[in-house]
Amino acid sequence: VTTKKHANGLEYVDVDTPACKARIFLQGAQIDFFQPKGQAPLLWVSNADDYQAGSGIRGGIPVCWPWFGMNDNPEWPQHGFARTRLWDLESVKMKDTGVELKFTLKIGEEDKQYWPHDTRVEMLFILNDTLTVSLRNTNLSGYPISFTQALHTYFPIGDIAKLKATGFEGSQYVEFGEGPYAQKDDEVLFNKETDRVYTKLNSIQELHTSDGIIEVGRENSNSAVLWNPWIDKSQRLSRFNADDYLSMVCLEAANVLDDAVTLAPDESHTLTTTIRWKS
Ligand code: BG6
Repeated sequence: VTTKKHANGLEYVDVDTPACKARIFLQGAQIDFFQPKGQAPLLWVSNADDYQAGSGIRGGIPVCWPWFGMNDNPEWPQHGFARTRLWDLESVKMKDTGVELKFTLKIGEEDKQYWPHDTRVEMLFILNDTLTVSLRNTNLSGYPISFTQALHTYFPIGDIAKLKATGFEGSQYVEFGEGPYAQKDDEVLFNKETDRVYTKLNSIQELHTSDGIIEVGRENSNSAVLWNPWIDKSQRLSRFNADDYLSMVCLEAANVLDDAVTLAPDESHTLTTTIRWKS
């Protein structure tokens, strides 16, 4: 495990162990590469991204916190500020279970306008042949706090026309401000812009991609976001090629809409996603 500098100046932690390779940037505590040894990479990142300080990387796992989507104040950044701030690498531990890394968010003076509450925000990574990522919040202020959040994972899926996402039976979703709609089928196929917030969802979904099945688990996540921008929205996205929508999908462990997390003083909450190739 070593700290390195990207050509454009952003610092990252480079992980190379017998079990996996990974790259995690200090900006946003954002992982953009994870590959179990002998298997294909499990995260997608756009080759249109130029890894600039101050903008989230278009791929991997951006952290959306302390709000998901647009804030009520339209001038505030979409998906919060955590994904563009520097985090401290607090610890690296080699364990039998794999490498464990912990990052803490530096909430600066300029962020107090968005988030004036004393809060410890940590990202924990456990890296072996599975990628386990947790966003942990601890309320250090003397009063209750509430936030929404997502681990906004971009997956490589080969060919969107052949992608089947499964594990959706019995759930419901809101899309483009409408719903909730009941999800009738267990599987979701993609042939148009998809931007859904699912609730009442099982804790494991599968992405049946051209290269195999990716299993995606969620813990302490009462909602999940399923997103593919399709043709028109792809033109409007930053750091995204017009045809990138063909090879990615986002499936995000989240607590959004009515599922905001509220923490009493000294209480913690840990949102987790686990990602692996299904053997
Ligand atoms: C998704 C949202 O999670 O993130 C979409 O549901 C949004 O509506 C997308 O467009 C990307 O957001 P951003 O800010 O990274 O371009």
